[in-house]
Amino acid sequence: MPRPGVLAIQPYVPGKSSAPGVARIHKLSSNETPLGPSPKAIAAYQSVAAHLQDYPDGAATKLREAIGRAFGLDPARIVCGAGSDDLLNLLARAYLADGDEAIHTTHGFLVYPIATLGAGAKPVVAAEKNHTADVDAMLGAVTERTRIVFLANPNNPTGTYVPFDEVKRLHRGLPLRTLLVLDAAYAEYVRRNDYESGIELVATSENVVMCRTFSKVHGLAALRLGWMYGPAHMVDAVNRIRGPFNVNSAAIAAGIAAIEDVGHVERSTAHNAKWLAWLTEEIGKLGLAVTPSVANFVLIHFPHTGATAAQADKFLSTRGLILRQVGAYGLPHALRMSVGTEQANRLVVAALAEFLGRPATASHG
Ligand SMILES: Cc1ncc(COP(=O)(O)O)c(C=O)c1O
Repeated sequence: MPRPGVLAIQPYVPGKSSAPGVARIHKLSSNETPLGPSPKAIAAYQSVAAHLQDYPDGAATKLREAIGRAFGLDPARIVCGAGSDDLLNLLARAYLADGDEAIHTTHGFLVYPIATLGAGAKPVVAAEKNHTADVDAMLGAVTERTRIVFLANPNNPTGTYVPFDEVKRLHRGLPLRTLLVLDAAYAEYVRRNDYESGIELVATSENVVMCRTFSKVHGLAALRLGWMYGPAHMVDAVNRIRGPFNVNSAAIAAGIAAIEDVGHVERSTAHNAKWLAWLTEEIGKLGLAVTPSVANFVLIHFPHTGATAAQADKFLSTRGLILRQVGAYGLPHALRMSVGTEQANRLVVAALAEFLGRPATASHG
């Protein structure tokens, strides 16, 4: 028998990537970037093919140095992982014991309860307000058993964020024995003056860690690459328990090239800013509520009867438009759509208009 908690885990179901019988599909179900990775990252990845017999550098030194240069951080305070999923699980394993509690919010990222239960601890849910993490509810959920507070900022699947002042208030209210994990997987996309990914808080405290990913804006989801920035004592703990070669050579090479290609990141975030606003407006005009998002996806709310989310998903799938059902996140009446190419975005809005029986009047964007 696995340890207690393991069989209580609802297995993570990734976004669909095909629609039976449809030749041309637009996958908008996993928040992948429509621009793909930097061509320089692809070239770096390919160059590794000549060295597949060699183990990777287990410390990912050059990659940590590149991340350090890009963000002005000490590479010694960075740990790389096989996706930020790897790091979230390592943090849970390092800091949670049987009977401990870890807090996440109602519609928080599903890996948090999975990692918590997998470590033998108890996930505790803090209520959100308007699909947004609520600092008072999170602080109210803290007990003497709370060892971790997970905050996705911005959050997936809602796309909402918590301003830096509120994140600082959350941190101030936590006891030192409680670790604040700031998961900033979508940080590059955020264009708000009151947002901070977590670097400042990590740099000035002993119980905050920030996790980042190469899967989103850098377009390297297939390679599984993430990193965390934390206090020295936490870096030491995670380094002790991680796999000695948890990041592969292709990911290291492509990651360095990706983070150095600032122009590609700027093009990706500019594309996102333009189409995020367009989608929010055009889908709103169809009479569907869209949660205001600062990330690279939107949460679209459907009526509970009549034109439901499940029916919309089916209708869009027949046109090769694959969105994400988010019932597993407690949002059975919504669909999450990643910002796609111009073509995909326009196709979704037109298909939704048809589904709802509305005239298509989308502006040119
Ligand atoms: C909030 C959040 N954190 C972490 C991740 C995991 O990313 P990675 O691909 O680095 O494991 C995701 C991916 O969807 C996410 O939405």
